[in-house]
Amino acid sequence: MSGKNKIIYLLLALALFSMVRCSSTKVNKTLTFFFDGVDDSQPLVPGPANTSPAVTAAKKTETSPVIPSPESRFKLHKPYQEHQCGKCHDSTNMSLLIRPKIELCFSCHDAYEKKYAFVHGPVSVGYCLACHNPHMSENSKLLTRVNEKVCYYCHTKKQVLQNKKHEGVDLSNCTGCHNPHGGKDPGLLN
Ligand code: HEC
Ligand code: HEC
Ligand code: HEC
Ligand code: HEC
Ligand code: HEC
Repeated sequence: MSGKNKIIYLLLALALFSMVRCSSTKVNKTLTFFFDGVDDSQPLVPGPANTSPAVTAAKKTETSPVIPSPESRFKLHKPYQEHQCGKCHDSTNMSLLIRPKIELCFSCHDAYEKKYAFVHGPVSVGYCLACHNPHMSENSKLLTRVNEKVCYYCHTKKQVLQNKKHEGVDLSNCTGCHNPHGGKDPGLLN
């Protein structure tokens, strides 16, 4: 997808979604952010979700993919491991999801609005797949990337370095200070 298409897609998704969700969060800022901040060289939904051997196998064998064993280097999402494909996919057509991607995760995971006074932009719009893979990952917590790379998918290094609060801190561990989902203050501090 070209950078421009990606932004249009994101805007549509965010705009649609914000009509149903997003009470406390700053949608305008979120939209502006995507114009300024997103690194166009990255795929919209990154990570091994689309390319892992298991998913390639899954494409061929439909509902009976070769699910890696829990001992493999992949860490599996519980419903995937337990073969509950129908909790997310239309069981008659695996290429369809039963809910829009941006709502899918909330059917089992609590909405973070209830937990936090301030919710991180992508979390508030249900864009979980920016940071997590739906089936499995080589990284803990199903993360698409590790450490600060998760954050630099959207925030630019320049933006982060400009902030005086970041002077002299270890910038390889963003989540050492920031909660990736939300917090009691707008800076999402732990
Ligand atoms: C927690 C929700 C969830 C569960 C459970 C789940 N999937 Fe998925 N699956 C997804 C999402 C979301 C995508 C789209 C990922 C993307 O676009 O990167 C996907 C993508 C796929 C794809 C690739 C489709 C394509 O066109 O590239 C296949 C095949 C697939 N899933 C099969 C399965 C099978 C088989 C199971 C059960 C063993 C399963 N999934 C369980 C959420 C889930
Ligand atoms: C059918 C229910 C279901 C759906 C839908 C679902 N999850 Fe989960 N998820 C679970 C369960 C069950 C666990 C394991 C919880 C535990 O062990 O305490 C889990 C765990 C996780 C974890 C933590 C993994 C770890 O290693 O600790 C992440 C991250 C996660 N889910 C993300 C997602 C995302 C992103 C989506 C949407 C694509 C999603 N989930 C949709 C049921 C679901
Ligand atoms: C900006 C990136 C990002 C987004 C977006 C995101 N997460 Fe996470 N999530 C993380 C990180 C990083 C961790 C690991 C936190 C840790 O280990 O300290 C995590 C951990 C989790 C866990 C494991 C339990 C926990 O809280 O540590 C679950 C479940 C989870 N996320 C679900 C979701 C769901 C559902 C969404 C969408 C509503 C979502 N995440 C959106 C980055 C993100
Ligand atoms: C999918 C894109 C995306 C990813 C990935 C992402 N962010 Fe964000 N982040 C946003 C958006 C959108 C906002 C809200 C717009 C704004 O305030 O600039 C935001 C806002 C924030 C804020 C609050 C800024 C303020 O207004 O005070 C912090 C702190 C933050 N992100 C930290 C992180 C950290 C840490 C990570 C990695 C764990 C991360 N972000 C990953 C998109 C993202
Ligand atoms: C040592 C703790 C610490 C670490 C590590 C850290 N931050 Fe921060 N960050 C802060 C503090 C403190 C603020 C100011 C919060 C406020 O004003 O409420 C902040 C503010 C921010 C903001 C909002 C203001 C802005 O600059 O737009 C973003 C986004 C952000 N951090 C992203 C990141 C990312 C990405 C990383 C990792 C590369 C990171 N931070 C690592 C402490 C930290």
